[in-house]
Amino acid sequence: SRLSVSLDRQGAALGDLFGIFFEDLNHAADGGLYAELVRNRSFEFDPIDNRSYHALTAWEKVERGGGMAEISIQTDAPLNVKNPHYAVIEVAAGGDGVGLMNLGFNSGIPLKEGERYLFSMYAKRETDEADLLQIIVETPDGAVLAEAEVAVAGKEWVKYEAELIAKTSSHSGRLLILTKRTGSLALDMVSLFPQATFRNRPNGMRADIAQLLQELKPKFMRFPGGCLVHDGSLNADDRNSMYRWKNTIGPLHERPARRSNWGYNQTLGLGYYEYFQFCEDIGAKPIPVLPAGYDPHHKRIVPLDELGPWIDDALDLIEFANGGVDTVWGAKRAELGHPQPFGLEYIAIGNEEVGEPFFERYAYFHKAIKERYPEIKIINSSGPFPAGGEYERGWASARENGSDYVDEHYYVSPEWMLANIDRYQSFSADDPKVFLGEYASWGNTYYNALAEAAYMTGLQNNAHAVGLACYAPLLCNVDYVNWKPDLIWYNNHQVYSTANYYVQQLFMHHQGDYLLDVQAEGLGEPQFAKVKAINGKLALGANPDTARFWDIQLINNETGEKQLLQYDTANVSETNSKWRELAATDWEHYTVTFKARRLQGDKGFELSFGEQDSGNRYL
Ligand code: AHR
Repeated sequence: SRLSVSLDRQGAALGDLFGIFFEDLNHAADGGLYAELVRNRSFEFDPIDNRSYHALTAWEKVERGGGMAEISIQTDAPLNVKNPHYAVIEVAAGGDGVGLMNLGFNSGIPLKEGERYLFSMYAKRETDEADLLQIIVETPDGAVLAEAEVAVAGKEWVKYEAELIAKTSSHSGRLLILTKRTGSLALDMVSLFPQATFRNRPNGMRADIAQLLQELKPKFMRFPGGCLVHDGSLNADDRNSMYRWKNTIGPLHERPARRSNWGYNQTLGLGYYEYFQFCEDIGAKPIPVLPAGYDPHHKRIVPLDELGPWIDDALDLIEFANGGVDTVWGAKRAELGHPQPFGLEYIAIGNEEVGEPFFERYAYFHKAIKERYPEIKIINSSGPFPAGGEYERGWASARENGSDYVDEHYYVSPEWMLANIDRYQSFSADDPKVFLGEYASWGNTYYNALAEAAYMTGLQNNAHAVGLACYAPLLCNVDYVNWKPDLIWYNNHQVYSTANYYVQQLFMHHQGDYLLDVQAEGLGEPQFAKVKAINGKLALGANPDTARFWDIQLINNETGEKQLLQYDTANVSETNSKWRELAATDWEHYTVTFKARRLQGDKGFELSFGEQDSGNRYL
């Protein structure tokens, strides 16, 4: 073989190719990256979020040494109407202290010896008399880890703060708020933050998880989801609302805790300002994803003549990120502490949407954004992959509108990745570019990581077509798993990166600027075949030059029935590249054992893809 590399010719620019995707699933925000240690801090947990939830989830009543109290949840005079619930402790007898105890996430509240923690809460009493509350973090068997006192007085909501210094380390602390005075005490927004957040930002990120993200050196961060963005009602004031970014900025008690489609409650403490700040802190370009007024899960659709406020959300977000301090939303950013623009370059409209209502609405967003901000690159959605019509519809819409990117998502077997390394080779450089906004092989093994590494070489080598790519999902709390595999796993005090993480890191640390023109001779063609199943049909891809005739044996694992299919790659048409769909079977739901045998060529070999679910999934 002879390999010659030409260094003086520049190929496609690699741009911002490899980044990360943050979605609040698997408790990636609350109980994850967001450093808040109190779970259900504003008593907003609700069965709408999760059937097992109630307003006192993660809270317990405490009655010590003859103390007696009743706890109730009230809404009559809230701190803020967007967070209407608050706890009232009705003390009949103070004893040695009565009140509430928060259990935190996972095994409890983690404290590190010598470190400082900021306690805060809003409180009010039924009288103007002051009450000295004890704030204690203790182990389940009562050993005090840290403590402070807070004097609460008055009938109006007031914010109280105290600093706690941990005497001992533990990861099973409980936060207690105790009073000894009879009467009524109301509490809301009870919070405990480590002072040592990432970059010491107030309301900041958990340092160890954030550090791992920074150490990836991602070029961009897509956020805040995923299905999280478009799943919900059309009313921004509804707790079941779609993800509306304007609800996520400003004072914490004004951000409405919301139901997330991942079956838990999202405080929105990690909101758009924090996302932008975090992107800046780790050197990643922000890529926000906005809903397009269409929930494909529940088929909720904003009428076209009511789309204005949704489009305004997108325009206002760009102004919030980039506008001068003399603009309405730029001024808001400055007021929150960041007068300099955040330098937004990309915006995504929609996530994995299926259905004409999305594409109809996308066109309005696209036009309005390009008219006002022609420099902003807009990402369209290709719908789920590979689903034939819907997927093609996404690409058609992107071409019609002139989208800069099309967002593709797939979760596949490692074998699929190995067989599809050249997937983007045939994509045209004149088309919108691919944003591979979610991808992973099914697993966290070394084999998965290697297959992903191989696949990423294909993304890189086809930078004429692929502009941006990010693995998904990113984060997972081991005790609240919605989806796996994930890139980084953690509990309340430990964090582990996976083999897949190190592959991502390798590629991100060594992102180049341009592809170099590589001339290779004598290396031969790759000798693997590709298989996929689409709507009950099998398809095989192979190099017609080196492997022309194939036998495919399909075994229905439920009935034992077998079919032998014969395949001649000479029949492959130009339009579907080296792929051909075979009318394989009318079995609708089955798992198959798939074997392909090359009948002609230098040497025969057999591929076995094991048992796979055939439904619309690549094998
Ligand atoms: O990454 C998990 C989910 O997968 C995302 O929310 C969604 O976009 C996709 O279906």
